[in-house]
Parts: sequence; C-alpha cells; structure tokens
Amino acid sequence: MLAEDAGAATAAAHEALSRLYPEEGTPAQAAVRATAQRARALHLQTTDPEGCWVAEVDGQVVGVALGLVRDGVWGFSLFGILPAFQGMGIGNRLYAAALAYGAEQPGGIILSSSHPAAMRRYARSPGFRLLPAVGLSGAWDPRRVPEGLRSRPGDLSGDAETLDRASRHVRGASHAVDLPVLLGRPGAVLLVLEGAGFAVVGDGTVALLAATSEAAAEDLLWSAMRSGPRGGTVSYDFVTAENQWAIRVGLEAGLALTPDGPVLVRGEVGPMAPYLPSGAYL
Ligand SMILES: CC(C)(COP(=O)(O)OP(=O)(O)OC[C@H]1O[C@@H](n2cnc3c(N)ncnc32)[C@H](O)[C@@H]1OP(=O)(O)O)[C@@H](O)C(=O)NCCC(=O)NCCS
Repeated sequence: MLAEDAGAATAAAHEALSRLYPEEGTPAQAAVRATAQRARALHLQTTDPEGCWVAEVDGQVVGVALGLVRDGVWGFSLFGILPAFQGMGIGNRLYAAALAYGAEQPGGIILSSSHPAAMRRYARSPGFRLLPAVGLSGAWDPRRVPEGLRSRPGDLSGDAETLDRASRHVRGASHAVDLPVLLGRPGAVLLVLEGAGFAVVGDGTVALLAATSEAAAEDLLWSAMRSGPRGGTVSYDFVTAENQWAIRVGLEAGLALTPDGPVLVRGEVGPMAPYLPSGAYL
C-alpha cells in the first residue's frame, strides 16, 4: 500500500465491514470516522510500510490488509475486501502477505470480525490459538458507579512510564507509537491510574484499556463510563475468558452481553489481561 492508497483502501474496508456492523449516526459523524480511518491507514503505512497491502483489480483498490509490529508483537489492524470481490481468493492472497510481514516476530495478535471467512482464515493460521470473546454495551447506570475511583485524565509524556508498563504487562509491547493517533480522534480522552494502567475512551467506546491488576482495570473501566454523559451509553468488545473482570463490571453497570468475533494469539504476547485491546492498534 502506498500513502496515496489510504483513502481508497479504508473506503473498501469500511464498505466490507459496514455490511457486518451497520453504523449508526449522522453524516457528520460518518465523516469524522472516515477521517480517523484514513489517519490510521496513513500512520500504519508510515510505521509499517511492508506490513500494509492493497489488492487492485484493473487499477481499482478492492481490498486492504494492514499489519503492525511493536516490540516483537505483530498485530493485524484491518482486513476487508469490497463485497463484490469477496469469496474469490483475494483475501487469502492479501492475508498471506500481511502474515509474512510478522512471521519472524515472537508474538502475534488478531482481533477477528464474526465474518465466517475471517474466522476461518485466522483460526487455520499456523501457531494461532482462538480465544472466544464477547462484547458489552448499553446505558450505564450512574447509581452503580462505586465510590472512591482513583483514575484521572492522563498525559502522554507525563504518564509515559505508566502507559508503557501497562501495555507491556498485558501484551508484551508498548502502545507509545500509536497512542497519539488514537487520541487524535475527536472526543478521545486518556485516563490514567498512577503506576497501574490507562484507558482511551471516546464517543461512548472504550477503545483501549491496559492495567497491571484487575482492581486497577475495574477502576479505569468505571471511570471510562463516568467520563461520558450521564444517561449515555458505553460499549467495549473483545472481552476474552481471561477478562472476567470486564464482564463483572459491565453487568453490574447494567450493560448487555453480546457475542463477538474471537481473539487469536500466538507466541509471546503476555497474559492478554487485564486488557481491552484496540481494534486498530491491538
Ligand atoms: C474476511 C475477508 C477479508 C476475506 O476475504 P475474501 O477474499 O472474501 O476471502 P477468500 O475468498 O480469500 O477466502 C478466505 C477463506 O475463507 C473461506 N470463505 C470465503 N468466503 C466464505 C464464507 N462466506 N463463509 C465461509 N468461508 C468462506 C474460503 O474458502 C477461504 O478458506 P480456504 O482457503 O480454507 O478455502 C472478506 O470476506 C471481507 O472483507 N469480509 C468482511 C469484512 C471482515 O469481516 N473483515 C475481517 C476483519 S477482522
């Protein structure tokens, strides 16, 4: 993928994924999301030019596969083929190139959609284990929020040590390269629990959470809910069996459980807990 492909590539992925997960919201919100997706693709094309691939048919970009490597962990960030071109073997070829980029890395993480082709492809990748996952979403009940939460707004440079420690604890790799882009999304907020973890939350979504203990993770998750408007909704996904704390907190807050695509891991990726991975940056 070249930098100039970023718009067409993310538009193709969006069309593929919105069939599975129809998006709600105003045209203005859709435009903000499209801008954020382009920024993500451009960022990854800059940090991982050899991990980012597009498929072209007659000069038209019909699919994209974006991967990243951070501190010995390969992560798969985005994968989609325009609906009219699915089921023809194009995804297999794109995925092979993306996977090869991370082959030498000691660890690998994939967050799967619930699309049968995606789950099949990932589950059959050599060395990967499939961890089933659920999502939680709904209106959080302010009366359930515990007293004495200690999380506070964070700062990328001032809290760098806490951020790094939590990321390395949960997945063996820092998020430092990606956090500025994740936080560049309109409305995105960084919450930190001194020495113990952080969360990125915005627009009712917990986009990323990593902590060194379950108590810290629970504090961050409640604080993430409370950072949104009273009476508002919140959602988070890719909650695996190792992350019962996130199920406990969500159900206590009044959220509903939903089935989600699985998480797939191989090699040295740490305990993957207490952790709510970022869809874009793992
Ligand atoms: C997932 C996706 C990228 C795969 O690309 P594709 O070009 O459609 O896939 P391919 O034709 O190369 O097939 C990949 C594998 O899935 C199988 N497959 C394809 N379509 C399938 C379907 N509808 N149901 C079950 N299996 C299917 C193929 O047989 C192949 O497996 P095999 O090599 O073991 O036989 C594409 O379907 C897509 O964009 N889906 C919607 C977006 C999405 O879910 N992306 C994944 C984000 S994590």
